[in-house]
Amino acid sequence: MVKSLDTIKAPIETELKAFEAHFRDSMASKVPLLDKITYYIVQRKGKQMRPMFVFLSAKLCGETGDSTYTAASLVEILHTATLVHDDVVDDAYKRRGFFSISALWKNKIAVLVGDYLFSKGMLMALDNSEFKLLQIVSGAVRDMIEGELLQAQKARRLDINEDIYYEIIRQKTASLIASACSAGAASTTEDPELVERMRLFGEKIGIAFQIRDDLFDYGSIDVGKPLGIDIKEKKMTLPLIYALDNCSNSEKKHIIRLIKKHSEDKIKVREVIEFVRNSGGLEYAQQAMLDYRAAAFELLHTFPESPVRNSLEELVTYVTERKR
Ligand code: IPE
Ligand code: IPE
Ligand code: MG
Ligand code: MG
Repeated sequence: MVKSLDTIKAPIETELKAFEAHFRDSMASKVPLLDKITYYIVQRKGKQMRPMFVFLSAKLCGETGDSTYTAASLVEILHTATLVHDDVVDDAYKRRGFFSISALWKNKIAVLVGDYLFSKGMLMALDNSEFKLLQIVSGAVRDMIEGELLQAQKARRLDINEDIYYEIIRQKTASLIASACSAGAASTTEDPELVERMRLFGEKIGIAFQIRDDLFDYGSIDVGKPLGIDIKEKKMTLPLIYALDNCSNSEKKHIIRLIKKHSEDKIKVREVIEFVRNSGGLEYAQQAMLDYRAAAFELLHTFPESPVRNSLEELVTYVTERKR
């Protein structure tokens, strides 16, 4: 049974409530345009899974405190910044069920807003002398950018394989979720082994999370962001990589040609999607996701059972079964 996010939040309800204000204040600006846009961001908040990972990981390793709030806001503000930039990079008009910042205020403003959020995050850590947290998340930001660039490079040449796919998603997505878990842990324990174990746990979930996200692109449910845009952007994800590895040479050539030359053509994109659906690629990716989830559970089960551990377990399940 998949629990709803609300039940999962139970052990950290107080923390999440206080987090809302902390997060909002961390973005504040006296510049009217920025104020208007950050207000819009706060109104259209996402699932806030990363702050949940911060608080639950923190509680698994000790008692939450000021550092934990800084970690949660820092991770969520950097996540928000990357999404604002991501929709510029991916030319996506929709985010969280509504227009993206770049769709509403155009790319020029979206780039600046993303940069502003990055700077606010860095300053928040420094103002609180949270050097360890800053080190953890800065590493994640670097990884995200490297992952995005590797992805862009592969989209040009279409010479991706499974190993490179995993490298891309480990960097662009798993690194930040890993940093949410390790920063949460680092806010409540000094034990480097614990912090590293939580980082690894977060990395496994992060990979499973992105495989789920990549599967959305082949589905038809409304997830609050555009569907079928990965192929349009020439992003080859696990279902497609599998399908291409398991078809005839001539078929492969044909599909690659469609992606290379006709990714703007809706009917041709449809053909690629059908090809992937008929290849067993979706089932293959689903299984790969479940393998990463199993690895995350194994790490989690090195901790004694508790309400917090159970919640984390349910959050992991939610990540792999979510509908948005
Ligand atoms: C979206 O992350 C970006 C990816 C790494 C795929 P989320 O799905 O957690 O985004 P929000 O914050 O809930 O909108
Ligand atoms: C996720 O990448 C955003 C980053 C990690 C920078 P995607 O482009 O795959 O995510 P969505 O689907 O737009 O949220
Ligand atoms: Mg992207
Ligand atoms: Mg995107």
